[in-house]
Amino acid sequence: MPFTLQQLHAALAQRPVILAPMEDVSDAVFRRLCRDHGADLCVTEFVNVEGLLRGCQKARKKLTLQADDTPTAIQIYGSDPARLAEAAQVAEAAQPAWIDINCGCWVPKIAGRGAGAGWLRNPEAMVAMAKLVVDQCSIPITVKTRIGLGPESHMPIVDLARRLEDVGVAALTIHCRTAAMGHSGAADWTWAARAREVVSIPVIVNGDIRSAENADRALRETGCAAVMVGRMAIDHPWVFREARALLDTGVEIAPPTPEERIALCQTHLIANVAARGEPHGVRVTRRHLSGYLTGLRHAAALRKKLLFCDSLAGCLDILSGYGQEMAA
Ligand SMILES: Cc1cc2nc3c(=O)[nH]c(=O)nc-3n(C[C@H](O)[C@H](O)[C@H](O)COP(=O)(O)O)c2cc1C
Repeated sequence: MPFTLQQLHAALAQRPVILAPMEDVSDAVFRRLCRDHGADLCVTEFVNVEGLLRGCQKARKKLTLQADDTPTAIQIYGSDPARLAEAAQVAEAAQPAWIDINCGCWVPKIAGRGAGAGWLRNPEAMVAMAKLVVDQCSIPITVKTRIGLGPESHMPIVDLARRLEDVGVAALTIHCRTAAMGHSGAADWTWAARAREVVSIPVIVNGDIRSAENADRALRETGCAAVMVGRMAIDHPWVFREARALLDTGVEIAPPTPEERIALCQTHLIANVAARGEPHGVRVTRRHLSGYLTGLRHAAALRKKLLFCDSLAGCLDILSGYGQEMAA
């Protein structure tokens, strides 16, 4: 269900831990799993506005939110302001909690064509585009961007934050790297702190939040409203409940037990096969399994067996056999 602006701000005032939009990762199955493990808010994978407006099946599927998939925002990306505004209206009909505009994707085939981080080449144009989308939609619009293009550019993020607020953007997520950095190098959270100081809309800090302690420190050091977790969730979705516990009680909870690790492999495989069939559902789960099995005895041998198994029944047999060995 869509949030009002007040509801979005109230949700962001709770220091939520948010699942980042990640293409081919933050799908309906993974969002449910992260929510079950404590994610307070979720954002979909980015949706291409041209695909969406053409009625492309893949884009349309990404817009479908189940009744229990809430609060979830839909993220869109594109390079043409009018098309973004039009697509945002289509996305609005899917009743997301809010709509996020991707102004941070560094991948050359996207940023090179003026979408994603390409908007950072012309902050003026980014602000005008955001205004158009805000003006044409009736649910809250947020922007996710980076601190700048880098490495030689000055970092526009502080001024940009102020200007995005001025045109009615409801909240801002800052991935604290430059576009040139891609996903490497350390995120510099001080930029989120500087941007946060000049705006009254909520700022969500993102980049290198890899543990509950990181989430707690990022919120304390930046004064931001919320944290967004990307890659760590792929390997360790327990990060959400661990962060939630530390933020709420100041106490670190125990890491997942080996049994929980095995159970999550099973749950994720079953859910992905139900959503996608075999062998696709098994294959797309593999990127998670290695992380889920971290720290288990003979994890390398177990990973290898799973890597060569394309059937759900086979994977479940391997995992339950391992579980029995562990218990013996
Ligand atoms: C596989 C993958 C896919 C991603 N897809 C998107 C996307 O669709 N939209 C987006 O805004 N960012 C995307 N990102 C960036 C993440 O949302 C996040 O900003 C980035 O990974 C930094 O956070 P982290 O250090 O917690 O991973 C993606 C990142 C990864 C690793």
